[in-house]
Amino acid sequence: MSRFTVNSFKEKKGKSKISMLTAYDYSMAKIMDEAGVDTILVGDSLGMVVLGYDSTLKVTMDDMVHHTRAVARGVKDAFIVGDMPFLSYHVSVEEAVRNAGRLVQEGGAHGVKLEGGEEILPMIEGILRAQIPVIGHLGLTPQSINLMGGFKVQGKDMEVARKIIDDALLLEKAGVSAIVLEAIPAKLAQLITEKLTIPTIGIGASAGCDGQVLVVNDMLGMFSDFTPKFVKKYCDLKPQITKGIRLYMEEIESGVFPGKEHSFQMDDQVLEKLY
Ligand code: KIV
Repeated sequence: MSRFTVNSFKEKKGKSKISMLTAYDYSMAKIMDEAGVDTILVGDSLGMVVLGYDSTLKVTMDDMVHHTRAVARGVKDAFIVGDMPFLSYHVSVEEAVRNAGRLVQEGGAHGVKLEGGEEILPMIEGILRAQIPVIGHLGLTPQSINLMGGFKVQGKDMEVARKIIDDALLLEKAGVSAIVLEAIPAKLAQLITEKLTIPTIGIGASAGCDGQVLVVNDMLGMFSDFTPKFVKKYCDLKPQITKGIRLYMEEIESGVFPGKEHSFQMDDQVLEKLY
C-alpha cells in the first residue's frame, strides 16, 4: 500500500473513489491503516461516541490533540485529518492557525478539517498560509446544531442549496484539498461534485460523491444511542461484544477461565520450601 498524501485527493478525482473513516485510538487506526483505508479522520464525533456527550460542542482542543496523537502512532500510510473542535477557529485567524498547528505539531495530523463556508474563509486562508492542508465540511455541520435546530438534512430548499454550492466554490478557490458533504440531497451532492475539481467526500450525501466517510463506531455497530439513516452497518459488533463479556463472566464463575495455558508455573521444590 502506498502513502496517501495531500496530492492524492486531486489525483483520485474521477479515477477512483476515496475511502475515509473516523478513528480515535491507536488500535483502531492501525487496523484501518493496515486494511488500506485512504484517509483517517480524527473526528470531533469522538465527543459522542467515545466521551459520551450529547453533541460535539463540548470537545476541546486538548481532547483532539490527545486522540490525534494516539491515532498517528498507529498509522503508516493513511492521510490523517484532525478535526478542529467548536470555538477553536471561530474567534480569530491567529487562534485558528495556532490550533491547527497544534493538531499537526503535537498530534501528528497531516491536515485539518473545519466546518463552514464563507463565514470562516479568513481562518481557512490563514491555516493554508501556514502550509497546513485543509478539508472543508459543508451541509449538516454538527457544530451548528443550535443554529440549525437539530441534526437535519440541509439544502432541500433553493436558498440553503445555493449557499452550499457557493461555499463549496469559495473553499475550492481558497485551496482546500477536499470537502466533506454531510446530509444533503443526492442530486445536490452530485451537482457540487461535478462543479468542483477537488473531491467531495460524502456522509449521507449519496454515491454521487468522490468518496465516502462514516463514523467507525456506527459502521461497526458499536454505538447504539442513535443511528442516522445514512449509516450502513458493516458489522454488528455490539451483540458480539456483549456475548464475549457474558461468557467471560460465566467462565470466571465456573473456573473455566483462566485455564492452565493462561497461568504461570513454578518449580515444585521451591513450592515445597514455601509450604
Ligand atoms: O466528526 C466527525 O466524525 C465528522 C464526520 C461525520 C465527517 O465530522
